[in-house]
Amino acid sequence: MNFRHLGSSGLMVSEISYGNWLTHGSQVEETAALACVRAALDEGITTFDTADVYAGTRAEEVLGRALQGQRREGLEIFTKVYWPTGPGPNDRGLSRKHILESINGSLRRLKTDYVDLYQAHRYDFETPLEETMQAFADVVRQGKALYIGVSEWTAEQIRAGVTLAKQLGFQLVSSQPQYSMLWRVIEAKVVPTSQELGVGQIVWSPIAQGVLTGKYKPGQKPPEGSRATDEKGGSRFIQRFMTDDVLTRVQQLKPVADGVGLSLAQFAVAWVLQNPNVSSAIIGASRPEQVKENVKAAGVKLSPEVMRRIDEILGPVVERDPEKTKLSTPEKRP
Ligand SMILES: NC(=O)c1ccc[n+]([C@@H]2O[C@H](COP(=O)([O-])OP(=O)(O)OC[C@H]3O[C@@H](n4cnc5c(N)ncnc54)[C@H](OP(=O)(O)O)[C@@H]3O)[C@@H](O)[C@H]2O)c1
Repeated sequence: MNFRHLGSSGLMVSEISYGNWLTHGSQVEETAALACVRAALDEGITTFDTADVYAGTRAEEVLGRALQGQRREGLEIFTKVYWPTGPGPNDRGLSRKHILESINGSLRRLKTDYVDLYQAHRYDFETPLEETMQAFADVVRQGKALYIGVSEWTAEQIRAGVTLAKQLGFQLVSSQPQYSMLWRVIEAKVVPTSQELGVGQIVWSPIAQGVLTGKYKPGQKPPEGSRATDEKGGSRFIQRFMTDDVLTRVQQLKPVADGVGLSLAQFAVAWVLQNPNVSSAIIGASRPEQVKENVKAAGVKLSPEVMRRIDEILGPVVERDPEKTKLSTPEKRP
């Protein structure tokens, strides 16, 4: 495993991290979840990403159990706050009340005294940014989180957050956006701004939730047990990539990946790691073999010629519009 700095901070993270959205506490049984975390640890992954909202808070509990007994200093544990974790109007968003309450729930479920990174899962238009940042400053001062990050914030929001964090004396070090060969909306604005401000990207869905493995074939039913068949939630999120045009072009990437000795999944993870502003690629897995396969992307260098072939093959199905970052954040809290 290789390690990278998280933005310009002193914190090192494994360049491939493991995340448990849709899987732990939901799509997969506990034994499979524990086996995936075991595989991640065995392969040298030290960075683990979760969120209070995943599987209605159960994902944090599963990760907490899976990491029990590990040396805490050898792990970087990330979680998030914003999406609803209860029925009340204050069980969501980035108010001072919810941030200071939700961190306690996360620490209890994760069985740890602190998280390494606490992330605003979205921007909250119903809370003044000053209130949110002051609450994060207090979480850091209480020692409950070491660093602060954000997720799916625009370049302007990141700049405003970093400015306030500096004034309040804590480090806003990371942004967690969706990023893959197919979804490049951060390249035009978020990445240049982040580079300027010393913010690193921890990117999610680097294999487009499984689509970039090539296992979904145009005109065919998705394989049984795959995320596209997951009635508990997963099938909803993957739909945007499940068009014949996308799936056909992904099949055409196969000979290029073969040419550099990688599986399509490894090729897709390696692709996001070519971007120097990416601190870590968070991979998901429903089976330990997937973790073992995908981590082999660590340390891989792709030539400019290979990068150009990928662009030629994917052509118009690549999403690059920076305005799309805004679409993942609701104007009103959910
Ligand atoms: N901040 C945010 O808003 C946000 C949003 C989403 C995700 N995330 C983070 O990013 C993490 C990763 O997201 P993701 O799970 O969508 O990432 P991903 O790595 O793009 O997709 C993972 C899924 O693809 C399939 N897969 C993985 N490797 C495979 C292989 N070698 N062969 C065949 N299928 C394979 C598995 O699903 P099946 O086996 O079920 O098909 C697996 O669960 C999450 O856990 C979370 O931590 C953050």
